Amino acid sequence: MKILVTGGLGYIGSHTVVELQNEGLEVVIIDNLSNSSIDVLDGIEGITEKRPIFEEFDLRNKTKVQDFFARHSDVGGVIHFAASKAVGESVEKPLLYYENNLGVLVYLLQELEKKKGASFIFSSSCTVYGQADELPITEDAPVKPAESPYGNTKQVGEEIIRDTCKVTPDLKAIALRYFNPIGAHPSIKIGELPLGVPQNLVPFITQTGIGIREQLSVFGDDYPTEDGTCIRDYIHVVDLAKAHVKALQRLLQNENNSNYEVFNLGTGKGSSVLEVIHSFERVSGKKLNYKIVGRREGDVIQAYADTQKANKVLGWKSKYTLDESLKSAWDWEQKVRTSHAAKS
Ligand SMILES: NC(=O)c1ccc[n+]([C@@H]2O[C@H](COP(=O)([O-])OP(=O)(O)OC[C@H]3O[C@@H](n4cnc5c(N)ncnc54)[C@H](O)[C@@H]3O)[C@@H](O)[C@H]2O)c1
Repeated sequence: MKILVTGGLGYIGSHTVVELQNEGLEVVIIDNLSNSSIDVLDGIEGITEKRPIFEEFDLRNKTKVQDFFARHSDVGGVIHFAASKAVGESVEKPLLYYENNLGVLVYLLQELEKKKGASFIFSSSCTVYGQADELPITEDAPVKPAESPYGNTKQVGEEIIRDTCKVTPDLKAIALRYFNPIGAHPSIKIGELPLGVPQNLVPFITQTGIGIREQLSVFGDDYPTEDGTCIRDYIHVVDLAKAHVKALQRLLQNENNSNYEVFNLGTGKGSSVLEVIHSFERVSGKKLNYKIVGRREGDVIQAYADTQKANKVLGWKSKYTLDESLKSAWDWEQKVRTSHAAKS
C-alpha cells in the first residue's frame, strides 16, 4: 500500500516523508513546487537512502487528481499538507486561498470516498482556537471566528472532513492542529525554505542573525504576559512529523475511536517572543538586532497546547527543547546561506 503525501516537498511534508520512509512505508508525493524546491527530493533521499515517487502537478486540476488515483489504486492513506499558508496574502486574495485550500480538499475526499477504508490526515492549525478562554488549550476549546481567510480555510476544512466522515463510515480521518512548527532535520539536509520575507518568527530571527534582514521587529511588549511579549507553543518539526506517523498508523490499524478525530500537536509549553530571541542568542552566540514596536493587529496574546490527548491516545510526546529547535534552525540557516554563496 502507498501513502500519498500532498505538499510533500514543503517544510512539514518533507520531514514527514522522512519519518514515513524510516518506518518502511512507501510514499508518493504530489507537489507543484509553488512553495518548495525539487532539491528537497535529494535531501529526503540523502537522509533515508530512498527516493520517494514524485509527481509534479497542481492539485487544483481535478482531472489530474482523478487520473492520479486511477493510476495509483494502491494508495490507502493520504496526508494532505498542500495548501497556501500566508495569512496576509489570504486577506488580499481570499478566492485563491479558498480554491487551493478547500477546492483541493474536496477533490481528494471525492476520490477517497470511492475507496474502502481509506485513511486521511489533514494539516489544521491552532489558529482555529483564536484567543482561547482557557490555557493550555484542549481540543474541546471552542473554535473562534477566524481572523483571516487562511484561518477560515482550516475551520471550514475541518467541517468538510467531519461532514464527509458522517456520511462515509468507511472513511477514517484525523485533523492535526499544529501549534508553531520550527527547526530543521538534525542532518540539516532539509529544513524551512521561506520564499521572500518570512512570515514566521524563527526564520525571521535566523535570517536577521545571518544578516539578510537588518532588524527583527517585536510586535508589542505590553501584553499581560510575564515579559510583555506574546506567547506561543514552538514545536520541533521532527516531533511534529513523527506525530503524523502515529496518527496514520492509528487509522491504518483501525485503532481510532470514531472515524473523525482531532488532536493538538504542541509541546505544552508556552514561550514568549523574547524567550525565543534569548534562546537563539544562546545557541548561536550572536546578539540579535531587534526592536520593540507597537502591537500587530490580530495577534493573539497566548496560545499553547494541552497535549494530553495526543500523549495518551497517539502515544506521542514532543522531545526537542526550545534551544535544540533553535539550534537546528540556526544550523540550517547557515547551511542554506553557505550553499547559496557557493552556487552564486
Ligand atoms: N508552517 C506552519 O507554521 C503551519 C502551522 C499550522 C498549519 N500549517 C499547515 O501545514 C501544511 C504544510 O505547511 P508547510 O509549512 O509545510 O507549508 P509549505 O508551503 O512549506 O508546504 C506546502 C507544499 O504544498 C505545495 N502546494 C501548495 N499548493 C499546491 C497545489 N495546488 N498543488 C500541489 N502542491 C501544492 C507547495 O509547493 C509546498 O511544497 C499547510 O496546510 C499549512 O497550512 C502550517
